Amino acid sequence: MLVRDLMSAPAVTCGTDATLSKAAETMRGAEIGSLVVTHEGKVAGILTERDLLRAAAAGVDPVTDAVGLWMTANPDALGPEEDAAAAWASLTHHHYRHLPVVDGEDLIGVVSIRDLFGAASLRPAGEHAADAPRGLEGVVVATTTVGDVRGREGFYHYRQYSAVDLAAARSFEDVWYLLFNAELPDRTQAEAFGAEVRSMRALPPGLADLLPAIARAGSPLDVLRTSVSLFGSELGWKPVSDGDLETVRSEALALCAAVPTILATAYRIRNGLEPVAPRDDLSFASNYLWMMTGTEPDPAYARAIDQYLIIATDHGFNASTFTARVITSTQADLAAAICGAIGALSGPLHGGAPSRALDMLDAIGTPENAEPWLRRAVENNERLMGFGHRVYKTEDPRSKFLRQVAQDLGGSLVGYAMEVEKTAVRVLAELKPGRELYTNVEFYAGVVMNSCGVPREMFTPTFAAARTIGWSVNVLEQMADNRLIRPTARYIGPPPPQPVPPA
Ligand SMILES: CC(C)(COP(=O)(O)OP(=O)(O)OC[C@H]1O[C@@H](n2cnc3c(N)ncnc32)[C@H](O)[C@@H]1OP(=O)(O)O)[C@@H](O)C(=O)NCCC(=O)NCCS
Repeated sequence: MLVRDLMSAPAVTCGTDATLSKAAETMRGAEIGSLVVTHEGKVAGILTERDLLRAAAAGVDPVTDAVGLWMTANPDALGPEEDAAAAWASLTHHHYRHLPVVDGEDLIGVVSIRDLFGAASLRPAGEHAADAPRGLEGVVVATTTVGDVRGREGFYHYRQYSAVDLAAARSFEDVWYLLFNAELPDRTQAEAFGAEVRSMRALPPGLADLLPAIARAGSPLDVLRTSVSLFGSELGWKPVSDGDLETVRSEALALCAAVPTILATAYRIRNGLEPVAPRDDLSFASNYLWMMTGTEPDPAYARAIDQYLIIATDHGFNASTFTARVITSTQADLAAAICGAIGALSGPLHGGAPSRALDMLDAIGTPENAEPWLRRAVENNERLMGFGHRVYKTEDPRSKFLRQVAQDLGGSLVGYAMEVEKTAVRVLAELKPGRELYTNVEFYAGVVMNSCGVPREMFTPTFAAARTIGWSVNVLEQMADNRLIRPTARYIGPPPPQPVPPA
């Protein structure tokens, strides 16, 4: 911010021969603490409240004594192009409270300490400390060792490893272990962990009994939310204040292991199919596809879904993760935190986009139709599903990775999707210049899942199956160093208290 932006203009002035009483009257009328004193159009001095006090203490007659005798002559001045930090340094270093701003020889304004306080949004202690930007964009609200997203670089990581490198080199179970234990497993640890979580896939009997009734009651994510709630009550989960970290860690492992079973069972019931029981000889991804389709998947599809799940396991302080942490901060139980997170994930601005991205590809229909279709949509202020991101202002690394996974899987959809992507990026750059809009994780997630036989209605639920791990680790981290998350809002309605009208 420059001095030009924060100064008060025009400056209120008086001549050197004005009387002190006239000057005091002008200051009071303008509700300011100083006057710039001019002589023949040039700055000759500055008269402040402090100077008036000095004159009063000396017993002078304000009606006859002239300003020129009491002002500070030839004061320092600021230039309009100096930055706010320079103004602050000058005022505080010399204990000034006001400085004239001159452009060449012309007086164009005054900068006061009050202007600087205003620019810094300082408020009296006890009121709001500061206004956070809308959507909390860029605001750090916690510390974490789970991972982070570096939007400008197009990079994100789990613990100390690039998530994309993990997806290329390790299994989903290894990444799950990494998030829960803060280190990658060696072979023995991986085998023991794999056996442990494979043994937890069956549903608690109470939930299994109720699932047919709730499976048809709403969308698959609604069903998951309700099922997680029942899962927690069935297993007697307590508010987190009553449980030590180890207890909640075990609860979280059990939930993460059972979410695919909930999803696949409910999917089959909704579609009039017999549920398929989980197997403990298959990987997380293979077993998920097995339970959903009833056939053992092609290893290439199982690996592609395994990689998609790794890519989707966690992603910084996104809306659903923040939701889970807010709920945990109240010491509610794990089920409450995960239900809240699922609710946040269901919105199209967060996790609800992959099926919509595929719907968009269907609606466009052909590569030739992409340009007019996309142009019309953006001109009508519609959002292109699978494009744009709050944090990434470059290509989303997840999209880049999944594009390659989709290409490796082959099929006609990926080539068409890439054509549409190219056109959309060009149209967005033209119609939304400077917004830096590229594909996000959702665009190719839909393509990959579609190629592997995951039904469209299961795209976001599959995302949720992976993200339950990220949410759970964040819940554990919040528990380990908790403080109730309770921000405040600035009230901007009619000034209270208004008289309450009689009934
Ligand atoms: C993800 C998303 C919510 C991020 O939003 P955000 O950080 O709040 O960005 P904003 O809403 O401030 O958008 C900034 C500008 O880019 C435009 N924009 C952002 N995403 C866009 C998209 N997908 N299609 C068209 N325009 C888009 C906005 O219209 C806005 O334009 P304006 O400055 O003329 O008003 C947003 O990009 C979006 O809605 N994407 C589509 C849904 C999606 O893919 N969700 C999955 C997310 S992983």
